Amino acid sequence: MSRLGLTDPEREARLLSRIIETISTGLDLGEIVQGVAALVTETTETDICFVHLLDDTGRRLVLRGATPPFDELAGRIELDLGEGVAGWVAAYGRPVVIDDDKLSDPRYKYIPELRGEDFTSMCSVPIATRPGHLVGVLNVHTRARRVFSYADVELLHSVGGLIAGTIENARLHRRLAEREEAMERFAERVVLAQEAERRRLAGEIHDGISQRIVSLSYHLSAALDALTPRPAREADPPAGDPGAAAEQIRRARALAEDALAETRSAIEGLRPPVLDDLGLPASLASLARSFPQLTVEVDLTPVRLPEHVETAIYRVAQEALSNVARHSGARSAVISLAVRNGEVELEIEDDGVGFDPSRLAGPPASTGYGLGGMRERAELLGGHLEVHSRRGAGTLLRVVIPGKVAL
Ligand SMILES: Nc1ncnc2c1ncn2[C@@H]1O[C@H](COP(=O)(O)OP(=O)(O)OP(=O)(O)O)[C@@H](O)[C@H]1O
Ligand SMILES: [Mg+2]
Repeated sequence: MSRLGLTDPEREARLLSRIIETISTGLDLGEIVQGVAALVTETTETDICFVHLLDDTGRRLVLRGATPPFDELAGRIELDLGEGVAGWVAAYGRPVVIDDDKLSDPRYKYIPELRGEDFTSMCSVPIATRPGHLVGVLNVHTRARRVFSYADVELLHSVGGLIAGTIENARLHRRLAEREEAMERFAERVVLAQEAERRRLAGEIHDGISQRIVSLSYHLSAALDALTPRPAREADPPAGDPGAAAEQIRRARALAEDALAETRSAIEGLRPPVLDDLGLPASLASLARSFPQLTVEVDLTPVRLPEHVETAIYRVAQEALSNVARHSGARSAVISLAVRNGEVELEIEDDGVGFDPSRLAGPPASTGYGLGGMRERAELLGGHLEVHSRRGAGTLLRVVIPGKVAL
């Protein structure tokens, strides 16, 4: 068997320089990963190469590129940290070499689509920008038995190091672009929402409040008339009639109270006033008590956040709990607010019917406004929304918002 393989210095230099060429062409992430997989197998005399990258949560690996025919599986194979050889490499940050008999290795996970039975030896290395900052895992496999040497592993490691920075940059770039897009969508919606809000307020002022003030003024004039002496004419009500005046004033007072109540409710629609009165945790607790059909357990860390962040979190919790009440069929739910690694985490969990969260993938208008709106609120604050749900297995919604936390 040819053992020129990975350890031939010329090949090694050629591989690394072609990889640099590939990653500097400014292609998109998928194309870079695909190109690297092809180059690695071609230059290292291996038969297939898989590139698994961490997803945005940093908790799962997703297959992003592979040599054909496995390239078709990109985006469709996922592994938790610690799951399978790649998951093990990601969890421990150390390479793994298996020369033979993968099936008896406890770290190996058989995934039928990847046809592990067709390949004998494998080497799996972390893709990391610097020690501890893992981006993904690179695997190579050979059909014939192959003993991967220390130098082989080192070279694959270098390939990982070379592409890690580019992958990281491409990901940051994508996130930035997504955030910009979210901003644009949000700005558009803010304008629409402002218009709708203006119309709502105008309607409430015109139809409710001003009508009452007009009647109120009429009753006050009538009261005044009733108290003003004037030359008696037959058709006039008797002047100086305190009983009639009192009745008019009573009606005027009732109208003033109605107008006040309507003013309050018009204002409440603008900003949750409980936030100013109670702060975020207590407002969430009070929100949790406001769904009569649900028992909501609360676990709320006392935390102070900038006003706009508190409003966003409150609105997300409000929508999430109303979704639980409307769609989940659950009797109970849990809401928790915590601070982890300087990030605020809001979680709402129910044990109801669950649903398919891939609906979230589309633009907000393709779902109800609720989930899309929650995601937009989180992304605008530099955070993200995670929806974990399966039919029959309940729903966990998590919003993570970085920074600006004061305990
Ligand atoms: N906790 C949940 N349990 C079960 N299904 C849910 C839950 N939350 C959301 N869903 C499902 O996801 C869909 C989309 O939710 P979303 O909040 O975006 O829209 P909506 O509640 O239908 O309408 P809107 O929020 O705009 O009034 C819901 O129609 C429902 O099918
Ligand atoms: Mg909803």
